[in-house]
Amino acid sequence: MSDKPSYPGNTIMVRPAGPLICGSEKVVVVQDEQGNVIERAQELALCRCGRSKNKPFCDGSHKQSGFDGEQEFRDERAENISGHTGELVITVKPNAMLMFTGPVTLFSRSGNSTSTRLRGALCRCGGSQNKPFCDGSHKGCGFRG
Ligand code: FES
Repeated sequence: MSDKPSYPGNTIMVRPAGPLICGSEKVVVVQDEQGNVIERAQELALCRCGRSKNKPFCDGSHKQSGFDGEQEFRDERAENISGHTGELVITVKPNAMLMFTGPVTLFSRSGNSTSTRLRGALCRCGGSQNKPFCDGSHKGCGFRG
């Protein structure tokens, strides 16, 4: 039996010092800025440390990189998603964040942090001071990907 929390619908689990595990009872779509589909799957792992050689996907590089991503989170911009349905679509912005549209439940692996959103921006450069959300730090850290 898994010890991770589980939620219905679309989910994004923020692994401590690891990737974003995106899951759906239907499908998660990852696309580029032009809307070209990169991947469709029920579960996939997206890099948030900024060091994967297979961006936007996790390749395990966070284990060697000393990625600072252990913290729990609070979401000041949580939204009520009840009554909303649809796919989780994640758009990879060049040299910047992952934009997502839901509805989706975000949670830490411990279950101590949770939020629900219809849309938002997630850090994939590793430099945000408000992980897992983008705070614009990618502009100053020279992130490429
Ligand atoms: S992608 Fe990391 S702060 Fe924006």
